Amino acid sequence: MKVLVVGSGGREHALVWKILQSPRVTEVYCAPGNAGTALLAQNVNILVDDIGRLVAFARKMEIGLTVVGPEAPLCDGIVDAFIAAKLRVFGPTKRAAELEGSKGFSKELMRQAGVPTADFRVFDAEEPALNWLEERNDAPLVVKVDGLAAGKGVLVCSGRDEAVQAVKSIFRDRTFGEAGKKIVIEECLVGQEASILALVDGTTIIPLEASQDHKAAGDGDTGPNTGGMGAYSPTPVISPETLDLVLDKVLIPTVHAMRRMKRTFRGVLYAGIMLTSQGPKVLEFNVRLGDPEAQAVLMRLRSDIVPLLEAVADGQLAKLIRESGESALDWDPRPAVCVVMASEGYPEEYKKGHPIRGLEAAARLPDTQVFHAGTALQGGEVVTAGGRVLGVTALGDSISDAKLRAYQAVKLIRWNGAWCRKDISDKARQLAEG
Ligand code: AMP
Ligand code: GLY
Repeated sequence: MKVLVVGSGGREHALVWKILQSPRVTEVYCAPGNAGTALLAQNVNILVDDIGRLVAFARKMEIGLTVVGPEAPLCDGIVDAFIAAKLRVFGPTKRAAELEGSKGFSKELMRQAGVPTADFRVFDAEEPALNWLEERNDAPLVVKVDGLAAGKGVLVCSGRDEAVQAVKSIFRDRTFGEAGKKIVIEECLVGQEASILALVDGTTIIPLEASQDHKAAGDGDTGPNTGGMGAYSPTPVISPETLDLVLDKVLIPTVHAMRRMKRTFRGVLYAGIMLTSQGPKVLEFNVRLGDPEAQAVLMRLRSDIVPLLEAVADGQLAKLIRESGESALDWDPRPAVCVVMASEGYPEEYKKGHPIRGLEAAARLPDTQVFHAGTALQGGEVVTAGGRVLGVTALGDSISDAKLRAYQAVKLIRWNGAWCRKDISDKARQLAEG
């Protein structure tokens, strides 16, 4: 079978790498891909938002399964277009992807389904939002734009004044454009965060091993928010009991509510969880694999991923579980740590086109994978082409061993202005030490 992966980040490189290990697969294409996917698969020069051309390509090449990585094409209806063309595709339809595409929709659904989340209000104009803020105590609040904003649409405000400024900048200055036509204002939660990703085929849910992202740019969670500077899996934030709780109180009610609303969810449901003193609460839903969570989690997945992706796309997960017995998913017990190496200036302005050295030496290290994100080939040379450039991922006997190995590989790689956080996975140790 031929497989097409849509996207060009570290998550997509990890997907290509994992899918290629399947004996069911003859060829993998990646649209548009990066310099890393070009080493393994055939890159196709079609952008993720060019849905018509992607459908035409899949049809012409007789692609047996298309796997969509990023949220934007999912929210634009790429899955609906593939289904209409009778092409098999992994990911939620446009109506189901609203769980990520509209924070207002996702919060209302959680309220209706009784899913624990921060208390909230939705506003579609400045005045009622400001009036409501007037009557609030001066407490920390979070202001979120309703639409997709590449991880930047969440403003954590220390008090009322900051929240007022946030509301004004969204409605008056239209800082986030169309994405800010509606906003959610919610209580600020405190606790450890974790990412719980699950395969969902409409009814059946298989949670993947939990992971923890590092969203802030600086060590010790300081500095501006990014797309994610590193991840590790498993995480002590999520005990088996907490995972059961999240399954019961979050994943099952959400999947059922979506089906009742005729928005049947197929794909990866990603619950961003905060473990508060009152138990786990949902910060957000995403409708895809996390990046860089996918790099850490897929490193640990021993099972062939392709039958799983196919079963999700076909609504056949229950059958697959029946046939494979207890262990539909086989995990490497060893932890994985993924360290993101970024361009100088990221998450603000950065330059592209710096040649990257040391990739071959890093690739020779055992149990290590250097997943490319923002890279390109220029005259046969791998150069930087994005903010997050590489996701250097290693397995180890313990989290600290995996961390050590990942940073050993990082040390071998260099380019002008390369940087990374130095503390990926340290939260695990801090938690263990209490
Ligand atoms: P989101 O895109 O909704 O996950 O938000 C991005 C980040 O903002 C989260 O990973 C949290 O660190 C933070 N955040 C979002 N909602 C809240 C909240 N209600 N309380 C505290 N922090 C939040
Ligand atoms: N790492 C966060 C995300 O994928 O949304």
